[in-house]
Amino acid sequence: MTTPAKEKGHRWFAALWDRTGAVSERAHGPKIRPRIMGEASGDVLEIGVGTGASFSYYPEDARVIAIEPDPYMIERAHKRLAELGNTNIQLRQAAAEELPFEDASFDHVVASLVFCSVRDQAEAFAEVRRVLRPNGTFRFWEHIRNDDSRFWGTVQDAITPVWRWFGAGCHPNRRTQQAIEDAGLRIEWVEQFRAAPGTPEIYGVARPV
Ligand SMILES: C[S@@+](CC[C@H](N)C(=O)[O-])C[C@H]1O[C@@H](n2cnc3c(N)ncnc32)[C@H](O)[C@@H]1O
Repeated sequence: MTTPAKEKGHRWFAALWDRTGAVSERAHGPKIRPRIMGEASGDVLEIGVGTGASFSYYPEDARVIAIEPDPYMIERAHKRLAELGNTNIQLRQAAAEELPFEDASFDHVVASLVFCSVRDQAEAFAEVRRVLRPNGTFRFWEHIRNDDSRFWGTVQDAITPVWRWFGAGCHPNRRTQQAIEDAGLRIEWVEQFRAAPGTPEIYGVARPV
């Protein structure tokens, strides 16, 4: 039987994600994930965990709740978790805009390549801020709009309607670092690099102001 939640997922995006993201994952994951996930211990929330690319990077003392709205992604994440035999990671179906957790529940909130796709960035970052403890960190890896090049920025704006459709809601032209700061999170450090032509990616750590 197909549940209503199942109808909301992206079956083909989920099935292809490990392959479509493989080149970037191989090139950048081993450098970025140890700094983003590998330094997150204590109570950790990962948002938009996908198929679980981050699972093997968490330290042993992390108690991780990993959320994901797409049931097809969750199915795959469950399989990966079973293969890894990791018992300190729990999976739940939820979306970033409505986190089912009390205020100040987590030492770290973590996300990779997610805030390009959330329905509402301002709502989602307000939720990140709400569930973080005052001395907690938000640890992120995202691709962003190219504001250094008028050409590439315009290309990103132009392709967004089509890209969103093929990419399960992904917007190539979001100013995500600005949105993090607008939510009351101060950037502690951020690194920027180019993964695809014209597309900057950022990773770093922010803290509640
Ligand atoms: C490009 S995939 C990245 C998956 C994973 N974080 C990784 O690094 O491989 C984007 C993920 O964000 C999830 N996502 C989309 N909208 C979301 C939302 N509103 N809240 C939480 N996750 C969301 C998608 O279902 C998908 O699993």
